Amino acid sequence: MKTTHKIIFADSRSLSSIQNESIDLVVTSPPYPMIQMWDELFSGMSDDVKDALSKNDGNIAFESMHRELDKVWSELYRVLRTGSFACINIGDATRTIGDRFQLYSNHSRIINTFRLLGFDTLPVVLWRKQTNAPNKFMGSGMLPSGAYVTLEHEYILIFRKGNKREFKNETDKLARMQSSFFWEERNKWFSDIWDFKGTQQGLNHSDLRSRSAAYPIELAYRLINMYSLYNDTVLDPFMGTGTTALSAIACGRNSIGVEIDNNFSSLIFEQEKAFSAYANKLVSDRISSHVDFVKTYTETKNPLKYTNNNHGFPVVTKQEQEIQLYSITQVAETQNSEIEVKYEPVGKLENEVEIGKEQYRINNSSSLQMALTL
Ligand SMILES: C[S@@+](CC[C@H](N)C(=O)[O-])C[C@H]1O[C@@H](n2cnc3c(N)ncnc32)[C@H](O)[C@@H]1O
Repeated sequence: MKTTHKIIFADSRSLSSIQNESIDLVVTSPPYPMIQMWDELFSGMSDDVKDALSKNDGNIAFESMHRELDKVWSELYRVLRTGSFACINIGDATRTIGDRFQLYSNHSRIINTFRLLGFDTLPVVLWRKQTNAPNKFMGSGMLPSGAYVTLEHEYILIFRKGNKREFKNETDKLARMQSSFFWEERNKWFSDIWDFKGTQQGLNHSDLRSRSAAYPIELAYRLINMYSLYNDTVLDPFMGTGTTALSAIACGRNSIGVEIDNNFSSLIFEQEKAFSAYANKLVSDRISSHVDFVKTYTETKNPLKYTNNNHGFPVVTKQEQEIQLYSITQVAETQNSEIEVKYEPVGKLENEVEIGKEQYRINNSSSLQMALTL
């Protein structure tokens, strides 16, 4: 298997280099309207934003910033295939403008636009981002009627364009089965509150990543596994440090990233080229978590009924029998500045790791073995 990863330095309010109905999934996080760090960017995009901010008119500034994002959302409707998904990470903003403090509800404004564009809105995920900062409570302290609830979550909005995706022939059906996730992953990933505390990013440039409001790699990795298949193409119109592209590499999907600020260029390329060990660790972590799950399940409940045909370990349902995981063998830059990634299938696990009464180990994937410490 082989995937390619393209970076376009451009303004995503026009995605003219991307064809209609050519994208299988969008995973992205825009600049957040009414969060100060993005004022300059929005003011550069629209004089209405600039005027409204200078006149301390928060409501007009909010609306004008969203009118710029609306142009990107409209392009997403054009480039997405019917039946595919868009996942938008967004936080609301709280801010005092003039002497008025209020909530600017970015998530509801975006849901409204997507509905008007023709997308179906699906249940959202709350990404819990608890903080222990001593100054997190705003307003009048212990005195009543002037203190404000602290925002400690962001949203992952999920939309579908049109009818459900169809898997008509046997090849499509098999690709879908091979791209499936484990039963216990379904139970965790499809819950409506996510908390990435404790996950290790372990990527370089963590400083720059936090200054550029990058989301955790686990967030994009999860969404890509949930809403796309191997060899699909994932688009991020606000690429930033390239977290979506890195996750697509780990998931065996192609990607296109669009970013207005080409200062990110060397960082993205550098990260993509050095990413295979981290990506293989994500895959091996899935395997070890599954092996742990099977062990606990077998010990506390019953032996599992089904066996996965490609890896040999037990699984809970028939739908998991064809899951095929891949490890990365090579990452290279092509002549036209794309990143090309090659993979090998992870083989059967045999006789070393204990699962109930049996033992398993990875037997044929050298690149995975180094990442797998069961
Ligand atoms: C919230 S950050 C995205 C962070 C990204 N998810 C990551 O993990 O690094 C938003 C990004 O969108 C970029 N951006 C803002 N407006 C844009 C536009 N019109 N076209 C393309 N990129 C844009 C910004 O430069 C910034 O890097």
